Order: sequence, then structure tokens, then C-alpha cells
Amino acid sequence: MTDPTQIADIKIPPIRNGTVIDHIANGQALNVLKILGVNESNIDSTISIGMHVPTHKGTAKWKDVVKLEDRELDPDSVDKIALIAPDATIAIIRDFYVAEKYQVQLGDRVVGLVRCSNPNCITNKGEPVTPEFYVEGRNPPRLRCVYCDRMLSKISDNLL
Ligand SMILES: Nc1ncnc2c1ncn2[C@@H]1O[C@H](COP(=O)(O)OP(=O)(O)OP(=O)(O)O)[C@@H](O)[C@H]1O
Ligand SMILES: [Mg+2]
Ligand SMILES: [Zn+2]
Repeated sequence: MTDPTQIADIKIPPIRNGTVIDHIANGQALNVLKILGVNESNIDSTISIGMHVPTHKGTAKWKDVVKLEDRELDPDSVDKIALIAPDATIAIIRDFYVAEKYQVQLGDRVVGLVRCSNPNCITNKGEPVTPEFYVEGRNPPRLRCVYCDRMLSKISDNLL
């Protein structure tokens, strides 16, 4: 008998060099691609996406996975991914093997990565003020604006 989780994994072809973003919260793969700024004109290597893949890690039954060939992530992108997929792991693949792996992690503050959802906030008034939030919860992420004190309502809609 073949383990169904193994089948789910091999649906995505292996990559020689690149990055695997695994354990993405179910349904967030397209937001991850948005964070990476993926569009038809700026990508010259293969991206494989697994959505609604069975998983047995933690309490989740489903996850999304994104595999990027010949690409590594910049730190801001990793921090943004932590905001929408706090359990995600990032694996760097070199010559088909996992050379490095780490879990995304939010610090105590989030600076310049998301905009405040309050239209009256100073950060939305055209002033040279960088949006900044206190991290009040990590899983799920909860952000409070340093300037107007409001809790950010929908993080994925407000990513910069
Ligand atoms: N050459 C490769 N090409 C594509 N994906 C790979 C390659 N090597 C590993 N992966 C993927 O990278 C991720 C991390 O690999 P690892 O071997 O650490 O997985 P794991 O043992 O299942 O760990 P985890 O507990 O994080 O699920 C997994 O999603 C795995 O499928
Ligand atoms: Mg696994
Ligand atoms: Zn604000």
C-alpha cells in the first residue's frame, strides 16, 4: 500500500536548486505568490504550487506548498509569509537536498510590511511615516498599529 501523503508529495516534481515553502496555511498559496511578486513578466524559472494537500502535522488536515526553482527569498518576503502562514517552513534546496530549513518567525514589531486598515491613521495621510505594528499574537498573527492603536483587520488584504 502506498501512503497517500507520499502520493500528495510526489505530485510536485523535485527541484535541483531553489526554495520550498511548506506547511503554508490551507488556502494561502496564492497570497504567498502575491508576496513574492510573481507575475508573468518577472519570472524565468519554474514555480510549482500544491493546494489543499493532505498533511498530518499538528492539527491541520490540509496545507499548501510552493516550490520555487533557482530562487531564494529576501527577508521581507519571509516576514510577510509569517503574517499569513505562521506555521510555514522554508527549505533551501541545493543539488536536490535540503541544505537549510527554518520556520518563519515574527519579531515583536512589524515595520513597513503592511498598511494600517484605518483610513484616518497618520500612516495613510501621505505623510512620510512608515506603518508599524506591535505583534500581539503570532498564531494567528494579530497586529496593533503603533500610531492609531487599531487592530489590523485583514492582514492579507493590507500587505505592502
Ligand atoms: N529536491 C526537492 N525538490 C522539491 N522539494 C523538496 C526537495 N527536497 C525536499 N523537498 C521538500 O522540502 C520540504 C522540506 O523537506 P524535509 O525533508 O525537511 O521534509 P519533511 O521531513 O517532510 O519535514 P517537515 O516536518 O517539515 O514536513 C518538504 O516539503 C519536502 O517535500
Ligand atoms: Mg513533510
Ligand atoms: Zn494605524
